[in-house]
Amino acid sequence: MIGNLTLLLFCVTCQFTALQCELWRGEWVPDDNPPLYTNDTCKYINPLRNCMQNGRPDRGYLHWRWKPLDCELPRFNASYFLEMLRGKTLAFIGDSIARDHGESLLCALTQVEDAQQHEWMLRWFFPSYNFTLSILWSPFLVQYSMDKDYLAMLHLDVPDREWTNQLQEYDIAIFSTGYWHFRKSLYYVNNTLLGGSLHEEVNATKIDLISEFQMTMETVMRHIATQYRGIAMIRTVSVDHFEHGQWDGGGKCNRTHPYARKDVTVPQKNAQMNKVQAEELEKAMTLVTRGFPKLLLLNVTDSAAMRPDGHPDVYRNQPDNSPNDCLHWCLPGPIDMWNQLVLHTLEPIYRGKFLTATL
Ligand SMILES: *[C@@H]1O[C@H](CO)[C@@H](O)[C@H](O)[C@H]1NC(C)=O
Ligand SMILES: *[C@@H]1O[C@H](CO)[C@@H](O)[C@H](O)[C@H]1NC(C)=O
Ligand SMILES: *[C@@H]1O[C@H](CO)[C@@H](O)[C@H](O)[C@H]1NC(C)=O
Ligand SMILES: *[C@@H]1O[C@H](CO)[C@@H](O)[C@H](O)[C@H]1NC(C)=O
Ligand SMILES: *[C@@H]1O[C@H](CO)[C@@H](O)[C@H](O)[C@H]1NC(C)=O
Ligand SMILES: *[C@@H]1O[C@H](CO)[C@@H](O)[C@H](O)[C@H]1NC(C)=O
Ligand SMILES: *[C@@H]1O[C@H](CO)[C@@H](O)[C@H](O)[C@H]1NC(C)=O
Repeated sequence: MIGNLTLLLFCVTCQFTALQCELWRGEWVPDDNPPLYTNDTCKYINPLRNCMQNGRPDRGYLHWRWKPLDCELPRFNASYFLEMLRGKTLAFIGDSIARDHGESLLCALTQVEDAQQHEWMLRWFFPSYNFTLSILWSPFLVQYSMDKDYLAMLHLDVPDREWTNQLQEYDIAIFSTGYWHFRKSLYYVNNTLLGGSLHEEVNATKIDLISEFQMTMETVMRHIATQYRGIAMIRTVSVDHFEHGQWDGGGKCNRTHPYARKDVTVPQKNAQMNKVQAEELEKAMTLVTRGFPKLLLLNVTDSAAMRPDGHPDVYRNQPDNSPNDCLHWCLPGPIDMWNQLVLHTLEPIYRGKFLTATL
């Protein structure tokens, strides 16, 4: 709903079809085009996601494109993207899947011009475009600490300083969180213990994941809506595909084709988290004054659920006895599509610049 509404409000110059199109609902259809980059043309692929280099034999998973039911999603155009964001700064903020997305965009963009990497930060500068891409680590998006037994202590009412302390530097911030909320945790509000996750070994009043996640998203969205002046995108929770066992019990993901829409059901937890993210974004919109920040949804949950073939599985550059990876995504791979969504979502705003002159 929100995605549609935003498009309607800002997409004044877009093609008419785009106005009615829900980008998130579609099918993966065969695509003859080569991937935007490969392990040979991008040196920034995380070894853990570099499926080609790690010996994955099949290539079929690289030849699908996302086809929204009611329109076409244009192929990603790196020079167009860089041109559009000349002089801008963009940050990915979240967990390791946020980083996957950031590195996917980095790989796509460096096909046009190589980037200068910061000495110690995950930050890259594209000199000809004066464009900066950053990746910030904030797995829960709220403040947390971790004890020696990996019990997480989350402050559900405090947005993580890792990003709040530098958010103003970025014109565009793409937020995401998800799977870290499945961990065993204690939850605090106003520095007072509220309860803990459902894990047996957590000794506190049980609070279910969705209530906790709702409080987290509310805190995060309220901060963004009231403290930020740029463009914030919320990328909804992704989907894992462990089969033939649990993630830590030999589970794997060896399929080589996407699912058709009719054959896939989003797992209930992921669907609920998706809903919470969209609801909290919508609530936060009521706090926005004078048009800023822009709050936008990237609802990728369903399209991700349809790609059991896109994970590293055993091609993960890890010891054989460590779990297979059916959570993160191969690069190149299905989430390269997320860059098309980012471009398509930003485009009307930057085109609108000529009309509103406020950005
Ligand atoms: C996200 O998109 C999917 C696919 O269209 C849809 O089923 C789901 O309801 C959407 N989520 C929200 C919160 O709008
Ligand atoms: C990329 O992966 C292929 C295997 O698919 C391998 O032969 C090639 O050496 C790799 N390229 C680099 C630069 O490592
Ligand atoms: C990509 O964008 C550039 C710059 O706007 C444009 O010149 C080029 O034609 C575009 N390429 C494609 C394939 O659309
Ligand atoms: C590069 O972009 C920054 C904003 O990110 C701006 O302050 C600076 O003036 C730009 N530099 C040039 C040479 O355009
Ligand atoms: C937070 O806790 C402090 C004491 O630690 C208390 O004075 C304050 O009223 C609490 N605030 C809320 C909103 O509960
Ligand atoms: C659980 O917490 C209660 C209250 O803090 C404490 O009395 C009890 O010893 C704890 N039990 C375990 C097994 O840690
Ligand atoms: C995937 O693994 C399962 C269980 O080991 C096996 O039965 C199946 O044949 C495998 N599928 C493919 C496509 O290799």
